[in-house]
Amino acid sequence: MNVHATALADAHLPDEQTSAFARDAIEKLSQQPKRLSPKYFYDATGSELFEAITRLPEYYPTRTELGILRDHGADIAKLIPEGAALVEFGAGATTKVRLLLEQCAFAAYVPVDISGDFLNAQASALRKDFPALAVYPVAADFTAPFALPAEIADMPKVGFFPGSTIGNFEPHEACRFLRIAREILGKGAHMIVGADLEKDERVLYDAYNDKAGVTARFNLNVLVRINRELGGNFDLSAFTHRAIYNREKHRIEMHLISKKAQTVRLLGTGLSFRPGESIHTENSYKYSLERFGALARASGWKARESWTDANGMFSVHALAAAE
Ligand code: AVI
Repeated sequence: MNVHATALADAHLPDEQTSAFARDAIEKLSQQPKRLSPKYFYDATGSELFEAITRLPEYYPTRTELGILRDHGADIAKLIPEGAALVEFGAGATTKVRLLLEQCAFAAYVPVDISGDFLNAQASALRKDFPALAVYPVAADFTAPFALPAEIADMPKVGFFPGSTIGNFEPHEACRFLRIAREILGKGAHMIVGADLEKDERVLYDAYNDKAGVTARFNLNVLVRINRELGGNFDLSAFTHRAIYNREKHRIEMHLISKKAQTVRLLGTGLSFRPGESIHTENSYKYSLERFGALARASGWKARESWTDANGMFSVHALAAAE
């Protein structure tokens, strides 16, 4: 999830990642309605703020999913062929994967992430704690096809996509991702996916509008990042965090709302804002068990089993490749 880009200095040509960020930001902020991709949240500060979010009393998904993996690890293990390789799409904190590795007999672990440095640090820690496990990190953008390490070619494959990150994809992107995962993992593969469930709107609202204001800082940090890396001049005090539940679309929407009429400069382009105008920064889709099952079926997978916590807040799904 971590997308790193270096600062854009006036006297230097931007590196490839920075110029892609610049082009995308200028294009999406010049459109109506204005948008920014949630992938830009995760610079070093954004990743730290997200870790802080996962510990907030209002943000139930992380601790609830951990509880499900702890309580149902043995049930998951029953579905998994012996000597399988676990392929994790995106590598965050290792807490969740450790729960699977402790309870299921995996022969290999393949974390896939765009940030190579982060992957290597994570791989060394796991090698130390699971000496019998072969760890083969892959530095790649997991939303596009990539090659698995040759060492796991003959092992059964199990994909792992926890955290309800699937909820940050638009439904067509979620379908595309699951199809690509199915292609990469191959015939006979399994997949374990965490998805946040639809629930009481107040609970959802509070999870994205925490009292301590950490989610607001996480949201506003994307403007700090634009100022630092792309030389923008966003005045942070002139924007406010808004998160609302869109019932028809089954999603939390995060926005940054302009408090006044203003023009912001970004790499020589003037971006004007009306008072109350929004930059739509993230969607977080919430699935019912049925709608998640339908998504899996439409993406080349059969739903095998699902587990939820006692309060029906979060779900973990075991899928098997269709045919
Ligand atoms: C990473 N992702 C699943 C989080 C979510 O809940 O959609 C990102 C997040 N945005 C605000 N709070 C947390």
